[in-house]
Amino acid sequence: MSLNFSDKKEEETVYDEVKVKNELIEQTDDTKDEKANNRDGHFRQLACCLGILCVVLLLAIIGVCVYITAFNHTSEQNQLKENLTILQAVNLNLTNINNKLNSTVNNLTVQLDNLNKSYTALESNNTDLIAENQKLKTQNQKLKTQNQQLETQMKNLTDMLQDMETERNELNVSRAQWSIDQYCPIDKAVRQCKSCQVGWLQDQSSCYVILDVRPPNQKTWDEAQADCKERNSELAVINNRQEKAYIRGRSWNRTGISGYWIGLRVVDGKWTWVDGSDLTEISWIQPETPTEGHCAISVPTNIPNNGLKSVNCSDRNAWICEKKALRLFELKG
Ligand SMILES: *[C@@H]1O[C@H](CO)[C@@H](O)[C@H](O)[C@H]1NC(C)=O
Ligand SMILES: *[C@@H]1O[C@H](CO)[C@@H](O)[C@H](O)[C@H]1NC(C)=O
Ligand SMILES: *[C@@H]1O[C@H](CO)[C@@H](O)[C@H](O)[C@H]1NC(C)=O
Ligand SMILES: *[C@@H]1O[C@H](CO)[C@@H](O)[C@H](O)[C@H]1NC(C)=O
Ligand SMILES: *[C@@H]1O[C@H](CO)[C@@H](O)[C@H](O)[C@H]1NC(C)=O
Ligand SMILES: *[C@@H]1O[C@H](CO)[C@@H](O)[C@H](O)[C@H]1NC(C)=O
Ligand SMILES: *[C@@H]1O[C@H](CO)[C@@H](O)[C@H](O)[C@H]1NC(C)=O
Ligand SMILES: *[C@@H]1O[C@H](CO)[C@@H](O)[C@H](O)[C@H]1NC(C)=O
Ligand SMILES: *[C@@H]1O[C@H](CO)[C@@H](O)[C@H](O)[C@H]1NC(C)=O
Ligand SMILES: *[C@@H]1O[C@H](CO)[C@@H](O)[C@H](O)[C@H]1NC(C)=O
Repeated sequence: MSLNFSDKKEEETVYDEVKVKNELIEQTDDTKDEKANNRDGHFRQLACCLGILCVVLLLAIIGVCVYITAFNHTSEQNQLKENLTILQAVNLNLTNINNKLNSTVNNLTVQLDNLNKSYTALESNNTDLIAENQKLKTQNQKLKTQNQQLETQMKNLTDMLQDMETERNELNVSRAQWSIDQYCPIDKAVRQCKSCQVGWLQDQSSCYVILDVRPPNQKTWDEAQADCKERNSELAVINNRQEKAYIRGRSWNRTGISGYWIGLRVVDGKWTWVDGSDLTEISWIQPETPTEGHCAISVPTNIPNNGLKSVNCSDRNAWICEKKALRLFELKG
């Protein structure tokens, strides 16, 4: 445009110059007409040329304007294309990012689901564990209570045991006293010791007591054995012929007494002594057949049989107890 403007100015300047020259010529040279006509022709040609030039310039200016406008339009299109490409790239990037995010979200959803499952399982387990824990606590409490009870009981028993121990120690003294009075009674201010207590009979290494009681004080076999135990003895056990003869000799004939219980009875179909041994001489007893619930009595001497008789253990009879004799002297050998 500036070019356009300057061209016009130049043109005007030229025109002005020409005008001034023209006036000057008109003022100073009126006389020379011939020459003047000639110059008019030249001026017309020049004006014509100038007009053409003006038109050409105008056309050029228009062309330039059109060109610039067209150029501008093309550059905008290019920019739009460029912008479109960029936008497409951005869109692609965004799509990728979106896909990644969707995948991540999907993954997270799956993970959350798994976590929820684990959590649910754990919670259920936890509930079970809590219940179990509660059960164990209750059990523990019970055991504690039981333990306490047992401890109390144990303390009680310990106390009782101590009491018994004390009592036993005291008893030992009185027992010794009793024993010495039993075995070594005072006779004319002198203690005289014997192998058997007062009222007991000695034979060999044994002491016997003959309970020749009459009805109703007679006892069954079990009652008789219990009585012997109270006397620190047992129903008599016959170990040999000599002892058998001794027992038979002491099975006295008294009114109301049909026999004396001895320590022999049927256990599991066998004649068995109270010391656990079997009856070896089976012919000593009549009848020999071991009948369950039968026990043996020693019968009075003048009854002609082998001396021992099998009778019902529930029968009532007199009885003979036996215990070891006290050793007063060291046995030789
Ligand atoms: C192309 O984008 C730029 C910014 O990136 C903007 O300034 C310009 O106006 C856009 N062109 C067109 C033609 O939209
Ligand atoms: C598209 O993303 C890549 C990286 O993933 C980056 O280098 C590039 O500049 C991005 N393009 C646009 C247009 O955002
Ligand atoms: C995202 O993922 C889900 C499941 O995989 C699918 O159904 C959905 O169409 C996806 N969305 C996009 C925008 O890709
Ligand atoms: C989704 O998980 C799969 C496997 O489960 C894995 O290969 C993929 O890379 C994960 N995607 C993302 C975005 O974490
Ligand atoms: C977990 O799963 C349970 C059903 O099994 C559903 O009720 C609960 O809403 C889920 N929790 C979450 C956080 O997804
Ligand atoms: C639940 O507890 C049991 C044992 O009581 C165990 O074997 C199992 O694995 C546990 N389950 C879970 C999901 O922890
Ligand atoms: C021991 O327990 C018995 C009952 O079981 C009770 O009579 C006695 O008094 C208790 N003794 C002590 C020392 O607690
Ligand atoms: C009690 O006497 C017996 C013998 O009869 C003896 O063995 C025991 O040690 C005595 N007990 C005490 C506590 O002296
Ligand atoms: C012993 O006598 C009692 C009744 O006194 C009787 O019930 C029992 O059957 C008798 N036993 C035998 C083995 O005869
Ligand atoms: C027991 O003695 C009486 C006399 O006191 C006598 O009549 C009876 O026959 C004797 N019995 C036996 C089995 O000897």
